[in-house]
Amino acid sequence: MLGSTSPSLADLEGSLHPHLAALRSKNPVAWVDSLGGWLVTDRATALAVMRDFSTFTVDDPRFSTTQVMGVSMLSVDGPEHGRHREPFMEPFKSSAVGPQFGDWIATEARRLVEGFKPHGTAELRSALAAPLAVATIIEVLGLVDAEVDEVLAWYRFIGEAIEGINAGRTVDASAQQSLAQLRHHIDEAVQNGNSLLGQAVGTLTQAEIFANAAVMMFGAIETSEGTTASTLLHLLQHPEQLAEVQNDRSLVAAAIDETLRLEPSVTLVDRYATTATELAGMTITQGDLVSVSLAAANRDPAVFDLPDQFDIHRHNLHQHVTFVQGPHRCLGMHLARLETQVALNTVLDLLPGLVFDEPSSTPARGLVFRKPAAVTATWESSTKLQYG
Ligand code: HEM
Repeated sequence: MLGSTSPSLADLEGSLHPHLAALRSKNPVAWVDSLGGWLVTDRATALAVMRDFSTFTVDDPRFSTTQVMGVSMLSVDGPEHGRHREPFMEPFKSSAVGPQFGDWIATEARRLVEGFKPHGTAELRSALAAPLAVATIIEVLGLVDAEVDEVLAWYRFIGEAIEGINAGRTVDASAQQSLAQLRHHIDEAVQNGNSLLGQAVGTLTQAEIFANAAVMMFGAIETSEGTTASTLLHLLQHPEQLAEVQNDRSLVAAAIDETLRLEPSVTLVDRYATTATELAGMTITQGDLVSVSLAAANRDPAVFDLPDQFDIHRHNLHQHVTFVQGPHRCLGMHLARLETQVALNTVLDLLPGLVFDEPSSTPARGLVFRKPAAVTATWESSTKLQYG
């Protein structure tokens, strides 16, 4: 219920922002029963928690992603974190991703958009955002024999398993089967020697390479899909800003960052208190779950004016914390930005007269991973004009 100090999981999966604002206005750190932990809702405390890994660690057996995928860079801190992350840092640098993957992603995006362009309408999350996200990470990780549809299906089961653990359920058989199939492809890619994953041989065990590769896939698919879908949704909902971006492509990056701020595709990250401590006047007990709401920090009115509005000209839109700060800063943020930029530019290049089909679209939802299920648009199409 809005105004309650303890929103339910349904509240946090649905229109969560008013609930987060209500929590923040009372105290930026609040115990939320439905999450079984503290929720941080202002930007300053969020940054303090994410940067202080010795007090607020990811390294805890309750961490849902580890339960599903095994120990990876995402689930350890300190020197062990460095050992897991270091082998993969070079290929994901900003200076590396563009030259290495830009052309490939552009070709794939064009192929997808040209496939549905003659219809004059499409649901752009499932027709573009999702298949582009899967195809891109398959290419980046060198999983040559994996099919997009097959990976997407495993992926949905694994995603549901991670969400399920957060909601108190256990990993089911479909997710376990999907993990086994993914493992097979990743082991093959490492053995072939044509994958960036091979760089970790000698530093990480085979199980550790798998867990990190699975985290990269997970990190890449749901998030990039959600970001591309939400960016398209925001622009379609604001035709005047869409027109500006259409006419001045240097605004594409701002539209993406403003979307990352307003509707982050990962809404919260979990940490565990290694010691008793105080946070925004609250007494945290050793072992307590401290979740940082990236969605709430990004709408902190102390930092962002009119925080609920989509504004590509916002002077400080880059101050969102969607890629987190501290040691676990997103490894794939440059790849994610590149992919979303390419997707958006391709839509703007190939689909003239883009108009929002609101009745066939839905707002973003999700407890941890968040995206709109449907973003539908129409455009001028020669086929439609001919037969319509
Ligand atoms: C817009 C898209 C993306 C968003 C919103 C996003 C978000 C995040 C967030 C919030 C974290 C921190 C998790 C935590 O601190 O607990 C993270 C970490 C990570 N992300 Fe991303 N991500 C995106 C795209 C990608 C892509 C394309 C990759 C591909 C490699 C990727 C790989 C990773 C990895 C490996 C980590 C773990 C880093 C570490 O623990 O050291 N992400 N991401």
